[in-house]
Amino acid sequence: MSTKRACIIKNANQIITMAGNNTAPRKKEGMSELGLINNEDKKMVIAIYDGNILAVGDTTTVQQRFHALQITSDEIEVIDAQGKLVLPGFVDPHTHVVFAGSREYELNMRLNGASYLEILQQGGGILATTNMTREADETQLIAETTFRLNQFALHGVTTIEAKSGYGLTTKDECKMLHVIKKLNDLHALDIVPTFMAAHAIPPEYKENPDAYVDLIIDDMLPIIKEHQLAQFCDVFCEQGVFNVDQSKRMLEAAKTYGLTPKIHADEIVSIGGTFLASEVGAISAEHLLQTKSDGIQALAEGNVIATLLPGTAFYLMEPYAKAREMIDAGVAVTLSTDRNPGSSPTENIQLIMNLACFHMNMTPEEVLVATTINAAHAIHMQDKVGSLEEGKQADLIMMDIPTYHHLQYHYGVNHVDTVMKKGNIIVQGGVLL
Ligand code: NIG
Ligand code: FE
Repeated sequence: MSTKRACIIKNANQIITMAGNNTAPRKKEGMSELGLINNEDKKMVIAIYDGNILAVGDTTTVQQRFHALQITSDEIEVIDAQGKLVLPGFVDPHTHVVFAGSREYELNMRLNGASYLEILQQGGGILATTNMTREADETQLIAETTFRLNQFALHGVTTIEAKSGYGLTTKDECKMLHVIKKLNDLHALDIVPTFMAAHAIPPEYKENPDAYVDLIIDDMLPIIKEHQLAQFCDVFCEQGVFNVDQSKRMLEAAKTYGLTPKIHADEIVSIGGTFLASEVGAISAEHLLQTKSDGIQALAEGNVIATLLPGTAFYLMEPYAKAREMIDAGVAVTLSTDRNPGSSPTENIQLIMNLACFHMNMTPEEVLVATTINAAHAIHMQDKVGSLEEGKQADLIMMDIPTYHHLQYHYGVNHVDTVMKKGNIIVQGGVLL
């Protein structure tokens, strides 16, 4: 008798496995390959053992695999996915999910003509959230973030990246990263931490931003390294925030401390972030709303992943990124919510997929690759999540739709019925357990 949990998921109508050569993020035609199993005859099942995928195969093969582990049929739990679409849990590679408070009042300011960057220059925007986050203790931040993580789970997201960047002091940046660390233990979702003290210039350094860059390099980075608080380092390379030289200095320093660089580039104004991403060997350049052909070329040549956030274009009423041109140029694309309190307050990754399809000319297949295996690559999680393949974590979603085309057809609603994380069901019947 095994104490490890064994189960099979049977009767799915369609299974998206994303199986294939997953040693690198998918590009061009690779972004259309879903590893699709059309399962109308119900022959194929998914076997799960001890939190991982044991096999995706026909019933006989799967029975043999369990038999080899000396697991008998009555020890195997059966989950019925009758009529459903089964696919890997979504991966969101770019969030600012840890923060206190909200900024709903900014919408009216923006509708009355104030721009996102003007609100920031006047001490609002990111700096308003920074004030609220500095005042919050870890317990409050954990409570507020848990609510958002639950929303992610309900929408089928099982792994996210999360950035610091609303502390902007050594103490408060570390507080945010500690919260991420604790939430990794407290919550079912996997949360990959990114250090982003370079999110805004704090008011204390308004007259001398270079001194803040020095603080990040000389004071914060050594502590992040010593306490292993982050895997990635991100910079808001933007007009009036951090220029290309400052961004380069910070990302080069971050590399010496073992952090992988990534960069907010061309979100509002294009100042050269894509070229810097390529130069410093960033894993990804993110946003890219203003990126033109030369920037796209730089990303393709530098093998930089483009993480696109159409929810931000929608909510800030900015132009959408040129996803079609990027994919055609050979750039690997991922999609993300950008969950944050100012430019994209949503956890609904399915709506993000709709926006990508209808406003960025991505196909229904490409948006699925962009939210699973490619997104996993963007946060160095490709060996664990992003596809339903033997040995990977059993992170999967069952949706109440027969085929993946319904994700785009019946848009704007949540299709998730069941979410499994590391073999445990965390959402059932659309309800969090
Ligand atoms: O990705 N651009 C910088 N950061 C976020 C917005 C953060 C905020 O407004 O609070 C973004 O858009
Ligand atoms: Fe962002």
